[in-house]
Amino acid sequence: MANCDGRRIAIIGGGISGLLACKYAISKGFDPIVFESESSIGGVWSKTIESTKLQTPKPLYQFSDFPWPDSVTEVFPDQHTVLEYIKSYARHFDLVRHIQFNNKVLSLSYDYEDEDEDEDDGEWMSKGKWNVTVQQTQTLSTKVYQVDYVVVCVGRFSQVPNIPEFPENKGPEAFEGKVIHSMDYSKMDSTTATDLVKGKHVAVVGFQKSGLDIAMESSTVNGVERPCTVIVRTPHWNVPDYFPWGFPMAKLYLNRFSELTVHKPGEGLLLYLIATILSPLRWGFSKFVESYIKHKLRLSKHGMVPDHSFLNELSACLISTVPQGFYDRVEEGRLKLKKAKSFGFTKQGIVLEGQAEPIKSDLVILATGFRGIDKLKHIFESPKYQQLIAGSDDSAAVPLYRECIHPQIPQLAIIGFSESIANLYTSEIRCRWLAELLDGKFKLPSVKMMEKDIAEWDKYKKRYSKKYYRRSCIGALHIWHNDQLCKDMGWNPKRKKGLWAEWFEPYGPMDYTGPI
Ligand SMILES: Cc1cc2nc3c(=O)[nH]c(=O)nc-3n(C[C@H](O)[C@H](O)[C@H](O)COP(=O)(O)OP(=O)(O)OC[C@H]3O[C@@H](n4cnc5c(N)ncnc54)[C@H](O)[C@@H]3O)c2cc1C
Ligand SMILES: NC(=O)c1ccc[n+]([C@@H]2O[C@H](COP(=O)([O-])OP(=O)(O)OC[C@H]3O[C@@H](n4cnc5c(N)ncnc54)[C@H](OP(=O)(O)O)[C@@H]3O)[C@@H](O)[C@H]2O)c1
Repeated sequence: MANCDGRRIAIIGGGISGLLACKYAISKGFDPIVFESESSIGGVWSKTIESTKLQTPKPLYQFSDFPWPDSVTEVFPDQHTVLEYIKSYARHFDLVRHIQFNNKVLSLSYDYEDEDEDEDDGEWMSKGKWNVTVQQTQTLSTKVYQVDYVVVCVGRFSQVPNIPEFPENKGPEAFEGKVIHSMDYSKMDSTTATDLVKGKHVAVVGFQKSGLDIAMESSTVNGVERPCTVIVRTPHWNVPDYFPWGFPMAKLYLNRFSELTVHKPGEGLLLYLIATILSPLRWGFSKFVESYIKHKLRLSKHGMVPDHSFLNELSACLISTVPQGFYDRVEEGRLKLKKAKSFGFTKQGIVLEGQAEPIKSDLVILATGFRGIDKLKHIFESPKYQQLIAGSDDSAAVPLYRECIHPQIPQLAIIGFSESIANLYTSEIRCRWLAELLDGKFKLPSVKMMEKDIAEWDKYKKRYSKKYYRRSCIGALHIWHNDQLCKDMGWNPKRKKGLWAEWFEPYGPMDYTGPI
């Protein structure tokens, strides 16, 4: 697993990010070792809710040097097709031989005598070794690997569920029915999932993608006789399609011109003035999309108009597609939407804040998301690194330079934690950037400079994502982010042919097939 100069790289995770990290490390002459706790590749795509499809349009979710095959004609392929695409990528680039399946990384510890040395020049950051403790999940035997660099690609939306906390006697223990998390439901095959919900009064907590899909499946099985109740804490701008009033949304948010309307981290005076002058346009784009979603999904009638703007939603990477026919089912009485800021359990079911009568339920499915940050944090043995990951009050987003590197954690990158609206695209360019860094094409700036850059991005995230900023997301600034990576790598950030295309055509993975 060493390259020609003897450096060893370990990659944790065989999802999309881990595969990309592996592929680009190989391209620089490394022989990385990938630890995957499961028995197959694909991460979240290896098993999920049966009706799940790609919700990002396929052209935005593809490997830049391995396009979707012509046989896949749908814009939003189903999960099985996505998994097959990922597997064929791994086969094509011969990645599987680097992967140790059923090998779970239990912990990472950094070995360097003067770890506490407070040097700012980054020198000490190349002198130590990481000890990677790995458990073979079938035999339970453990082994420690010593490596020079670790790429953590453990994902954000699996393994550690976000289970709400309840006052004593108000939690699931008070309930006579069954409570599961969407993660458990996702793992079931289609027949088991159908049998589980069939003939039951089901309540789903959560109004994002898992909640929407599970509620839809439950209402398909049970019809109007036993409507599925969805508990909504926050209404969202879930999108019916990506063509508001027939206009491509990508032209409102994914081209260089649209980014001019948004204030950017580290912008100079000119860009600041342009974004300020164009702020009515920024507002107009958001209202344009909102008016379409409101109209198409009849949100006012259902009392589901969000308080925040579409731009906030996009900036926090919260965009979910709403399953086709979802609100028709609400009108038919197959789905019931109940808004509440908080809830608890009684013997018979769920009680919403401010209501006396419980929603009678046999089964409650908590589609309440994941605690990806806990998974990431606990992979580090040292409390110091745990603290650096999760922040002192646990409320901050993980501070990563270029959304990849923690300035104070040496010889390590984290890929796939910071999100975008097309995560494959984002992970790919970051893995290329990392490969160039490891290959010595450029150097990281000082810790102080990296922290300054992170702080600028943080300001942007807070400004536009509002209360959701901790989700770590580059939001509406894909091109600005990619420009920074391109400049570091010595690539020309302007990737299009012609001025019009450069400013008005949407950017996507195929614009970054190779250096120009
Ligand atoms: C159901 C679902 C649908 C999605 N749809 C979209 C979409 O349409 N568009 C989009 O942009 N994004 C989507 N996402 C977001 C998705 O997370 C990313 O697109 C992408 O697949 C994440 O890949 P990853 O490799 O970073 O993480 P993951 O896919 O989570 O992979 C992480 C891998 O690391 C392994 N692992 C974890 N811990 C350890 C350990 N300690 N030791 C060894 N191995 C470990 C896991 O087993 C897993 O294989 C979706 C997410 C979900 C859950
Ligand atoms: N491609 C696909 O079809 C697909 C399918 C499934 C999942 N995914 C992706 O997987 C990721 C995870 O999605 P997810 O839906 O599982 O999780 P999520 O996006 O984190 O959504 C969690 C939901 O639970 C609600 N919630 C959390 N805590 C709550 C509480 N205490 N009380 C009431 N409600 C609570 C949240 O409400 P608030 O909004 O108020 O926080 C939100 O509606 C996302 O990136 C998603 O896009 C994609």
